[in-house]
Amino acid sequence: MNKVDVFLNSINDLPVFPRTAIEFLKLIKKKETSLAEIGEYISKDSTLSTKILKLANSPYYNRGREIRSIRQAVIFLGSDIIKGIVLSLSIIRMFPMKVGGKELDRTLFWNHSVATAFIASKLSRDFELWDPDEAYTAGLVHDIGKLLYNQFFPEDYDTVVKKALKEDRNYIEIEKDVLGYTHSEFGFKIAEKWNLPEEIREVIRDHHGVTNETKNRLLVAIIGFSNVFSKQIGYNFPWEFEPLTLKNNVFWNEMMKANSKLKEIDEAFFTFQIREMKDKIEALIKESMEV
Ligand SMILES: [Fe+2]
Ligand SMILES: [Fe+2]
Repeated sequence: MNKVDVFLNSINDLPVFPRTAIEFLKLIKKKETSLAEIGEYISKDSTLSTKILKLANSPYYNRGREIRSIRQAVIFLGSDIIKGIVLSLSIIRMFPMKVGGKELDRTLFWNHSVATAFIASKLSRDFELWDPDEAYTAGLVHDIGKLLYNQFFPEDYDTVVKKALKEDRNYIEIEKDVLGYTHSEFGFKIAEKWNLPEEIREVIRDHHGVTNETKNRLLVAIIGFSNVFSKQIGYNFPWEFEPLTLKNNVFWNEMMKANSKLKEIDEAFFTFQIREMKDKIEALIKESMEV
């Protein structure tokens, strides 16, 4: 049995997956939840309230009047941005920024995760593909296996990163060599222990490629695509750049099946959106990270 198996069979000190995130997701999934209720939820948490107010007054979103209350901020920013912040914060809080291995930069990790989440929720909403909040959550946790490796096997994951930087090989193969499982497989096993919803578990397992086993193919495809797209616009680790092409892209094909409007889109469409997207992602990242 390799050491990851030993670990999986014996863990009881696994960080608890934040109930706040799950509860909040439930609250916003209820159709009749009003902005006022969301505001009330936020007001109970002082860190969250401060972050929301800062974001509402940041130059990315606001070039005019000052926003002074959570109520105003919620109306001004709109529920999608607000939900993004609440979900990011509750999940990011679970993992302190400065523990684990040295080589995996947690700031880069969360930048990539928030960017993937933002893109996934935007595509889901713009093209009516999936519930945008669920897509956001899935995007945020898709690579959680990397963070868990960094947390529980810091030295081995440092070795993975160092090898990935030196060797001209896909880092996923290196993970398998060093630890016996890829970050997707390891993340999936932990997600099972956490009892995360099936579609989120599948995203964690299959975001590098759908298989015959994948049931929630569309959500997996949205995250798989957003993952590569976020790397394309600069939210990547130095060892894992992969170019984005729409032609013969399995994830994109899956998304086109769900909405034929996507057939009219080419790479240029995304190029036009990058500037604006990046500004919003930067603002989200800034307010999602604990200071
Ligand atoms: Fe990944
Ligand atoms: Fe990723």
